[in-house]
Amino acid sequence: MTEERAMDDFRTVIEPFRIHAVEPVALTTREERAGWLRDVGYNLFSLPARDVLIDLLTDSGTGAMSRDQWAAIQHGDESYAGSPSWFAFESAVKDLFGFRHVIPTHQGRAAEKILFTVTGGEGRVIPNNTHFDTTRANLEASGAEGVDLVIPEGRDPSNRHPFKGNMDIAALESLLEARGGDVPLVMVTITNNSGGGQPVSLENLRAVRALCDQYSKPLFLDACRFAENAWFIHEREAGQSHREVADIVREIASLADGMTMSAKKDPLCNIGGWLACNDDELAQSFRNLLILIEGFPTYGGLAGRDLEAIAQGLTEAVSHDYLRYRIRSTAYLGEALEHLGVPVVVPIGGHAVYIDARRLLPHIDPMAYPGQSVAVALYEIGGVRSCEIGTVMFGRQPDGSEQPAAMDLVRLAIPRRTYTQSHIDYVIEVCERLAKEASTLRGYRIVSQPAQLRHFTATFEPIG
Ligand SMILES: Cc1ncc(COP(=O)(O)O)c(C=O)c1O
Repeated sequence: MTEERAMDDFRTVIEPFRIHAVEPVALTTREERAGWLRDVGYNLFSLPARDVLIDLLTDSGTGAMSRDQWAAIQHGDESYAGSPSWFAFESAVKDLFGFRHVIPTHQGRAAEKILFTVTGGEGRVIPNNTHFDTTRANLEASGAEGVDLVIPEGRDPSNRHPFKGNMDIAALESLLEARGGDVPLVMVTITNNSGGGQPVSLENLRAVRALCDQYSKPLFLDACRFAENAWFIHEREAGQSHREVADIVREIASLADGMTMSAKKDPLCNIGGWLACNDDELAQSFRNLLILIEGFPTYGGLAGRDLEAIAQGLTEAVSHDYLRYRIRSTAYLGEALEHLGVPVVVPIGGHAVYIDARRLLPHIDPMAYPGQSVAVALYEIGGVRSCEIGTVMFGRQPDGSEQPAAMDLVRLAIPRRTYTQSHIDYVIEVCERLAKEASTLRGYRIVSQPAQLRHFTATFEPIG
């Protein structure tokens, strides 16, 4: 790893790529942005992307593909059954994850829908460190109940535990003891997106595995950010720094019985996903449903060209030079905000920096959505689009009542290989302005909302 040492000698961690094709971004005025916010009911998901300058809404599907991925797309074979692109995809997935059955889907939530339609249902309870919003929505749609059992440190934005995504092993054991018969499977999300992009340690995964063995439960990974999680293990976990990330990924997968995946994250693609498992019967049930709602098992919800892009993306996702840059550049933004006194979740996560809106806006009650207020202000001030991950996203209970979420965060998700350091320096300046204006920001009330996943389409108005 000679190149790694060469880079370590310098303070600046550069983008390990050159720009090959460019996309224009929109320069707009604050007045224009204030008007557009009113027009869309203060919901950032409803803004046309052309009116956004720096889009940190999500790291999902927004990354830049490499020259080699675009070249791989030219190899896409669109045969309905048994295309060479399918075999390239299957072999790349099996090389890293090793599961016997790989079932391609158009994105992560389709894998979740199939998994929970087969394993969920009324009376079932599914533990996770923290269910992502689509994961929770899909299992609840099946009638099951989702339980979040992240360690207590994972709910404290200022606690610097190195593996804040870890599962609370004692809490999982109590659940399995009390309601084992109702638990069809245990899930672990790596990294823990809803809890600040925080990693799960190998030690913790081994302990979850041991409990799953004790109670005869399958363990499924929600593995969207497997490479970032493995990099954190490589960097932070005792005895792991000599290992290749790909090798750590293989060990993580070997501890599980299956996985769901969104290829829009670490696999560096704009679309795609899969469901994988070792159990033959389960795989058969998954495939039966796949054919009904996604497609034939050798393409699922994807075109042959997408399968090729994923196969190539997987080889790039575990590159140490790429991962060092990726994790370091996210930390660069987070550390600058800390330095400015903007409260953020620490340690800085892998794919995003999370502003602690509840702490930044103590004058706004959680039920008046401080996260929404911060997200709207970031767009109005500087055209930066972010995402509320708090009471708007999680406050609505299945019975329609409302409670404050565990945290009110605003996620600045960093698309992979897309923005340069000067873009991020601009975001830092926008956040500095936000901190100056914080005491003048107002809370919001919801004007209209759908029954599920309300954050995507609800409309708001400022209070007062
Ligand atoms: C942890 C996690 N699980 C599942 C999903 C769902 O994936 P997709 O957006 O591809 O449906 C996401 C997407 O953001 C995620 O972050």
